[in-house]
Amino acid sequence: MINIIVACGLDRVIGRKGKLPWEIKEDWEYFLDTTRDGVLIMGRNCFTEFKSYAKEREVIVLTRNPNLRFKHAQSAPSLQAAISRAEALGRKIWICGGENIYREAMPYADLLYITKINRKYDGDVYFPPWEEVFHNEISRKEIRANDLSLEFLVFAK
Ligand SMILES: NC(=O)c1ccc[n+]([C@@H]2O[C@H](COP(=O)([O-])OP(=O)(O)OC[C@H]3O[C@@H](n4cnc5c(N)ncnc54)[C@H](OP(=O)(O)O)[C@@H]3O)[C@@H](O)[C@H]2O)c1
Repeated sequence: MINIIVACGLDRVIGRKGKLPWEIKEDWEYFLDTTRDGVLIMGRNCFTEFKSYAKEREVIVLTRNPNLRFKHAQSAPSLQAAISRAEALGRKIWICGGENIYREAMPYADLLYITKINRKYDGDVYFPPWEEVFHNEISRKEIRANDLSLEFLVFAK
């Protein structure tokens, strides 16, 4: 099974200057818990932020540079190559971004795990429009995190 996982502020913003635009413990813990036993596929920029967690995870980093090597992670030259490699491991596959990888993965993904954060953040990376692709809400949980509200939603096609 191939899942996309993302957290968005208002306007679908997901990143700023190579990092998350927010520091929300509940959001990060949800991401780590949800993806714990799977294979994570992410772009080279995302891995820069994630690399300190890679040791305990199965991670495949997308890069078109065949000379790059990543500590505690494999690399793959395309999304298809990464998915094939992940499928061979027989575990759930989590597409973890960034922007173009999300866009490319949407046709292949079974489920979308989207966390909506009800605040506007400055950003330079956005989650692509998804509402036309994932129609069926199958789970919803709302929590308060300090003065924020977070909705953990799961959609099928
Ligand atoms: N809020 C969230 O849930 C969330 C999730 C993910 C990311 N983010 C944020 O988004 C930002 C990072 O995302 P990004 O879009 O800037 O970068 P990214 O996707 O992490 O990395 C881009 C790089 O990945 C490689 N790549 C991308 N598509 C590829 C493909 N199809 N085949 C092979 N390689 C491919 C290329 O590396 P090479 O240049 O080496 O070829 C490309 O330069 C950060 O700010 C991060 O915090 C937020």
